[in-house]
Amino acid sequence: MYLPSFSLKGKTALVTGAGRGIGQAIAIGYAEAGADVVIVSRTQSDLEKTAQLIESVGTKAYLFEADVTNKDQVKGIFETLDLEQINVDILVNNAGMNIRSKAFDVSDEEWDTIMHTNLRSAFWFSQQAGQRMKESGGGKIITISSVAGHVALRTGVVYASTKAAIIQMTKNLALEWGQYGINVNSIGPWYFKTPLTEKLLADKEYLQDILDVTPQKRVGELPDLVGPAVFLASEAADYVNGQTLFVDGGMTIQGF
Ligand SMILES: NC(=O)c1ccc[n+]([C@@H]2O[C@H](COP(=O)([O-])OP(=O)(O)OC[C@H]3O[C@@H](n4cnc5c(N)ncnc54)[C@H](OP(=O)(O)O)[C@@H]3O)[C@@H](O)[C@H]2O)c1
Repeated sequence: MYLPSFSLKGKTALVTGAGRGIGQAIAIGYAEAGADVVIVSRTQSDLEKTAQLIESVGTKAYLFEADVTNKDQVKGIFETLDLEQINVDILVNNAGMNIRSKAFDVSDEEWDTIMHTNLRSAFWFSQQAGQRMKESGGGKIITISSVAGHVALRTGVVYASTKAAIIQMTKNLALEWGQYGINVNSIGPWYFKTPLTEKLLADKEYLQDILDVTPQKRVGELPDLVGPAVFLASEAADYVNGQTLFVDGGMTIQGF
């Protein structure tokens, strides 16, 4: 028998930014693969919608209305899970945002907000989950980076810097934690239709520019990301460590 299991039955996954967009799709996809899902965002009504969709699949949802940039709130989530004896087997650091200022216009406040939301929070969640995974014998950590962390795009320098840092953080955490049975990987999406990109993709010229550099000649649909996210969370990826999987319709493979 060579085929490993892609099932997440019996596992618990924690997904940040699961109220909408990519995080919501991954949370529901994980439920469809059999996992209970801990969902985190700042908007209770969004969390309730995601929870309903998870429960309609037949697994459990645990809701945490929290700001991922607040360290006490991040620690509080894990302390509550400890009290309820819920062990996080899979962590997905997905919460993220952008302010697309040109480099000369970036304020210190913008720099801090984007850095803390996209990068620092992912490190905090990884520390909290990683420590517990070490004690329980292993786990999977997946952080959503971006094509913008690999090649220079029009997304703005701060966002791109957070995503490049995520790609490197992934390698360093994999190096330190591989010995504990913890796999740390990243997914680098190209453009996907979500509330974050809705306005940009509605601009026909911008969309055409995107399609011109996308070998598959379309933007991503959320299920295109859920397959790779399930793979990296499953036993099928047990020997995949420190990698960034670009889910980009071939965007990053091009030369001239
Ligand atoms: N969409 C794309 O084309 C694309 C491409 C490459 C990478 N990405 C990355 O994929 C991830 C998800 O993007 P998306 O397009 O799904 O974005 P989205 O539609 O804007 O959703 C972002 C989610 O993150 C949550 N969030 C943001 N800041 C938070 C905070 N401080 N505390 C807690 N939750 C927070 C949001 O909830 P609240 O605001 O209610 O808290 C929301 O649930 C991001 O890391 C993004 O950079 C997206």
